[in-house]
This record gives sequence, structure tokens and C-alpha cells, in this order.
Amino acid sequence: MLKTIFTFHLLIAISNCDTTGPFDTEEDAEIFLNERCGPPCIFSYYPLNLETFTWFPKNCTTVCADIAINSRCDLSEDQLVATFQNMKHLIGSLLVQQTDFTSGKFLAGLETIECGGENRVRRNTDYISVSQFRWIYNDEMLELGLTNLTTIGCRNFEISSGSLTNLNVPNLKNISYSLPTEGKISVTLRIQNDDFCLTSGELLSIIETSVLEFQEPKGKYCEPASAVENGKVCNSTSLTDGCTQIFGSLVIGPDNKQFVSHLKKVEVIFGGLVVNNTNLTNIDFLESLKYIYHLDKKAPAIQIENNPNLSNFSFPSLVVAQTLQQVVANTKIIFSNNNNILSSDSSYCFRLKNMLNLTERERIYFDGKQCENLPTKSTKSLAFESFIFAILIIKLL
Ligand SMILES: *[C@@H]1O[C@H](CO)[C@@H](O)[C@H](O)[C@H]1NC(C)=O
Ligand SMILES: *[C@@H]1O[C@H](CO)[C@@H](O)[C@H](O)[C@H]1NC(C)=O
Ligand SMILES: *[C@@H]1O[C@H](CO)[C@@H](O)[C@H](O)[C@H]1NC(C)=O
Ligand SMILES: *[C@@H]1O[C@H](CO)[C@@H](O)[C@H](O)[C@H]1NC(C)=O
Ligand SMILES: *[C@@H]1O[C@H](CO)[C@@H](O)[C@H](O)[C@H]1NC(C)=O
Ligand SMILES: *[C@@H]1O[C@H](CO)[C@@H](O)[C@H](O)[C@H]1NC(C)=O
Ligand SMILES: *[C@@H]1O[C@H](CO)[C@@H](O)[C@H](O)[C@H]1NC(C)=O
Ligand SMILES: *[C@@H]1O[C@H](CO)[C@@H](O)[C@H](O)[C@H]1NC(C)=O
Ligand SMILES: *[C@@H]1O[C@H](CO)[C@@H](O)[C@H](O)[C@H]1NC(C)=O
Repeated sequence: MLKTIFTFHLLIAISNCDTTGPFDTEEDAEIFLNERCGPPCIFSYYPLNLETFTWFPKNCTTVCADIAINSRCDLSEDQLVATFQNMKHLIGSLLVQQTDFTSGKFLAGLETIECGGENRVRRNTDYISVSQFRWIYNDEMLELGLTNLTTIGCRNFEISSGSLTNLNVPNLKNISYSLPTEGKISVTLRIQNDDFCLTSGELLSIIETSVLEFQEPKGKYCEPASAVENGKVCNSTSLTDGCTQIFGSLVIGPDNKQFVSHLKKVEVIFGGLVVNNTNLTNIDFLESLKYIYHLDKKAPAIQIENNPNLSNFSFPSLVVAQTLQQVVANTKIIFSNNNNILSSDSSYCFRLKNMLNLTERERIYFDGKQCENLPTKSTKSLAFESFIFAILIIKLL
């Protein structure tokens, strides 16, 4: 087995010779740790267990380590608390896998984690590839409980659990990754518990820099909304001046359309956007809106319907319009029964689709048609011009 793994890595190493990017190259996990800490604060054992934990640098506030806690860890929660009591900054990686702990609060003092490269391999430990920040198959776990964590500097953050009810990472502010990488940071949640909830603050800190993927269409917002420092949380029934966040869907209808001028500063909607049955002529009042995230697997993120005079829209700051993912094609945006202009010219539809970089699976419909199936204004006018041209030619002849 070992031999096969070794050969496999050898093959990868060989095939890497002709790739040029820095991304595919296998990297010695321990070199990174040795570069970042002095010897007293490096923990080079893997995984953490009854035999190895005595070597953990318990006095260091910054520790360089690939911490792996798994089903054979055999340490009690108290022993873990004592081991990690002074560690505020972890450089390396963290894997918590198949444990029986109900919470990760033994790491409650952790403030920052900075991961190494994505292809680090423990050459002295069976050539194991190290993870980045990964909590998987902890089937008793109800929360992460990382209450002091503010910064995650990792390319991947993954949580997979059948029992998690919330993250409880209330101070998370910043997810970023400083090493060269392709694509965006990915945060993956595979949570089977129907009662799982995310706070609005946690969701926002994730989507500001990362692509959030729900591998199970489960999750809702925890009530109430998280407090915001510089701003104001409103809902559809309390639209006042200075709102920066809308908690719950923003529904604009005949009764509250006069308040749309209060929405200029809104940056995020923790829910969907609905504009229904109004005589608005343009939707251009959401000028600061960056994120619409609807934790719903059926309703689209944006639904604009029955606005007969609505002939244009603009969302100049919008970057995310998401709902809970579904494996099959899922609808993110619907415009229907508005002014005919919007569906008689595919450029309106394409403008939104391209701005949001929607994939083939993420559908957008204008009066029941996808952008590709709407009339193209340019060809229509081209056809018209050719028609005139043809008439002219005929007349000339
Ligand atoms: C850790 O700190 C304690 C108390 O400050 C001290 O007694 C101990 O010697 C230190 N251990 C190491 C390994 O530095
Ligand atoms: C978390 O941070 C607070 C404030 O800095 C501190 O008082 C508390 O002891 C920390 N928690 C842990 C478990 O270290
Ligand atoms: C996020 O953290 C990184 C370091 O991990 C830092 O360089 C960056 O400035 C921080 N960003 C914000 C918005 O705090
Ligand atoms: C909307 O916000 C108002 C004022 O903050 C609050 O009283 C009301 O309960 C909220 N409504 C909903 C449905 O959350
Ligand atoms: C729009 O209003 C109609 C009633 O006029 C209602 O049937 C429909 O469900 C509403 N659409 C949305 C998305 O709320
Ligand atoms: C929209 O309808 C309301 C009545 O529902 C009316 O007072 C208002 O003038 C109308 N606005 C426009 C632009 O037609
Ligand atoms: C729509 O606009 C037309 C004029 O362009 C106006 O006559 C009509 O009353 C408007 N309809 C509504 C529902 O506001
Ligand atoms: C519609 O709005 C967009 C974005 O503001 C603008 O570029 C475009 O010119 C408008 N179209 C019309 C026909 O007014
Ligand atoms: C869409 O993709 C382009 C090119 O990859 C990128 O520059 C842009 O930031 C993306 N926009 C969004 C909203 O993700």
C-alpha cells in the first residue's frame, strides 16, 4: 500500500515537471512550518494523540503545526483545552475528523489561522496530504464554538456534519488567502441537520471573500439578525432612512413602494428580493446592494413581476444573487409580466447574467425564457435595415 502511494506521488511529481503553474507542485509540509516559527513553537507530530500531545508547545501564543485530531486521538476535552490554552494563532492547518466531541470549544481561544499551500504533503508521515481548515464527520458535534476566531487565512474551509445546529463563530470577520491560487476561496458546508442555522454576520463574513457552497440544500438564518457596527438592520415592514441590511426577504409592493428611496445604502439582503404589483418605472434605487443571499431552495433570489411600467433596472453594485444550491438546474432570477421592453430585447437579460457570472445551471428567466431564447435587438434592427435596403434595391431596379 505504502509503495503504491509512494509510486503514485512519484508519478504526480514526474507529471508535474511539465506543468508550469505554482499550483500543482507538491510541497513538503514541514518546510513551511519551519519557515514560520522558531523551533520551540513548532509541533511536528501528526496526528495529535495521547503519545504526541506532551510535545505540543503549550506556552506559545503562535504555534506552527498541522493539527490533526481524529477518532484515535484519545484525549479528553479537558486535555485538549489545556493543550491549546495559550494558542491564539495557528500557522499550518487544522483537521478535526470523526471525533465524538459535541463542540470545538477546546479551540475557543484561537483568534487566527493561517494555512500553508494547498499541496502540502507530510513526507515523514506516510506522505499524507494535509488539509487546510477542515471539520468532517464529527457526528456528535453541535457547534464549532470558535468564539474568538476573527481571521481565517485558508484557501478551503470545509465542514461536514449530520448534527451541527450552528457554527458559533460570532467574531469571524475576515477570510482571505495570501498565497497564489486559482479561483476564489471556497467554503463548503455539507450539513444534514434541518435545524442548522447561520447568523447573518457569519454569512456576510463568508460571502464577502469566498464562494459558499451548500452541498445539502439545508440551512436558514438564525434569529435575530446579528448586530452591525456601522449600519442599520431593517426588514420589509420597517424601511427607514439609513438601512444597510435587510433581514428577511425585501418585498416591495403597492403598499411600501414609496419607501424605496430609503434603500440607497442597503448592501445586503438576507433573503430574496421581490418587486410585485407596483407602478415603478425603474429599479435603480438599490445602488449599494452587493449581496442577495436567500437561504431557500425553491424561491429565486430575485423575482420581479407584475410591474407594467417597469422598463429598466440597474443593480450597479450587485455581485452575488444566490439561493440554496440544488443539484439540478435552479432558478436564481425571474422577471415576468413587466413592461414588454424587458423581454423583447435579450440585452436586459444578458446584462444581469453576465454581471453575475451565472453558470449554465443558474437560470435566469424573462417572461419564461432564458436569455438565449429572447429576441436580439441588434438582429431585429439588422433585419429591418436589410428589409429597407432590399426595398431600395428593388426600387432602383
Ligand atoms: C511554560 O510556562 C510555565 C509557566 O510560565 C513554565 O513553568 C514552563 O517552564 C514553561 N514551559 C516551557 C516548555 O517553556
Ligand atoms: C477570548 O477573548 C477574550 C477577549 O480577548 C478573552 O477574555 C477570553 O479569555 C478569550 N477566550 C479564550 C477561551 O481564550
Ligand atoms: C484579512 O487578513 C489578512 C491577513 O490574514 C490581512 O492581510 C487583510 O488585510 C485582512 N483584511 C481585512 C479586511 O481585515
Ligand atoms: C421588522 O423590524 C421591526 C423593527 O425593527 C420589528 O419590530 C419587527 O418585528 C420586524 N418584523 C419581522 C417580521 O421581523
Ligand atoms: C405577486 O402578487 C400576486 C398577487 O397579486 C401573488 O399571487 C404572487 O404570489 C406574488 N408574487 C410573489 C413573488 O410574491
Ligand atoms: C402609482 O400609483 C399610485 C397609486 O397607486 C399613484 O398615486 C402614483 O401617482 C402612480 N405613480 C406613477 C408614476 O404612475
Ligand atoms: C404607466 O405609464 C403610463 C404612461 O406611460 C400611464 O398612463 C399609466 O397610468 C402607468 N400605469 C401605472 C400602473 O402607473
Ligand atoms: C437602462 O439602465 C442601464 C443601466 O443604468 C443603462 O445603461 C441603459 O442606458 C438604460 N436603458 C435605457 C433604455 O434607458
Ligand atoms: C465575473 O468574472 C470576471 C472575469 O472572470 C471577474 O473579473 C468578475 O469579478 C466576476 N464578477 C463577479 C460578480 O463574480
